[in-house]
Amino acid sequence: MAKTADNDTGLSRMLTLEIARVTEVAAMAAAKWRGRGNEVAADQAAVDAMRQELNALPITGRIVIGEGERDEAPMLYIGEQVGLGTGPEIDIAVDPLEGTTICAKAEPNALAVVAFAQKGSLLHAPDIYMDKIAIGPGFEPGLVDLDASPEDNLNALAKAKGVPIEEITACILDRPRHAKLLESVRRSGAAIRLIGDGDIAGVIHTANAEETGIDIYMGIGGAPEGVLAAAALRCIGGQMQARLHATNDQHRARVVEIGIEDIDRKYLMEDLSSGDVLFAATGVTSGSMLQGVRIKANCIETETVVMRARTRTVRWIRTEHGPGKTDGPS
Ligand code: FBP
Repeated sequence: MAKTADNDTGLSRMLTLEIARVTEVAAMAAAKWRGRGNEVAADQAAVDAMRQELNALPITGRIVIGEGERDEAPMLYIGEQVGLGTGPEIDIAVDPLEGTTICAKAEPNALAVVAFAQKGSLLHAPDIYMDKIAIGPGFEPGLVDLDASPEDNLNALAKAKGVPIEEITACILDRPRHAKLLESVRRSGAAIRLIGDGDIAGVIHTANAEETGIDIYMGIGGAPEGVLAAAALRCIGGQMQARLHATNDQHRARVVEIGIEDIDRKYLMEDLSSGDVLFAATGVTSGSMLQGVRIKANCIETETVVMRARTRTVRWIRTEHGPGKTDGPS
């Protein structure tokens, strides 16, 4: 494995810029499809652009979280080798367009997302659901627990923050499966930020509650998104617990097939993503975390965040892509 002088994790510092390019091109490609009511085309555009950029990188990359079965995309599938095959061996988790529906409706918080991780350090999550709970940094480990009641978790968090429970806001995906959860949270007195899609951003928002107004993320979303969210939270600090949530026999078979022996296992954040990891997200549509792609007279502007677990560095990158850029919106 090729190593760089600055570390021994395979994640060279130069990859910080390369990973930003990967999400930038995906975001610009998806942006062409904002508000056009076509989730499939938006996703495909992001996948194509991201794959092309990944294949130009001096890495020996392997997709471990990909478009896979769920989106039925033929590219960036789990196990696909990407990169020039000349550099470090890296495991890659991708979500070229997180929030396909958001993008199709031109609503806030659609993102292009990637994580580069040390080989073997990301959970190979099947493309099924996952129950998740996450809070930001600065609390004692295990303050909230996936197996505790929503009321207990919200009360524990309010107490630790020294605020009444009415000042706590939980972010939850707006889905019928969350009817009971929503009822419990309402009963507790806490507020709810209901989101239509995009629970990677939902989890990340807990790390900066003062800015985002979100103190805790709760509920069931995609398992691949859970791994990506854990990778991000490890870079910025916080706690997360998760458990796979299979709703049918096909899901259960997929869990076995992927090699997971205990489907009921409760994963801690470090079980989902360990070791060094670089996480990048570029805004497709503007949201509470990132500006979306902006098309200006002479350039296309993107905003990207790149974070690294080993150093806890968080970089905000605003890029102007000149007219020579062919893969952005024309
Ligand atoms: P897509 O971009 O694949 O549409 O995912 C959006 C999303 O909201 C994720 O953030 C979330 O984890 C998942 O869908 C929830 O799945 P479902 O829409 O089936 O409830």
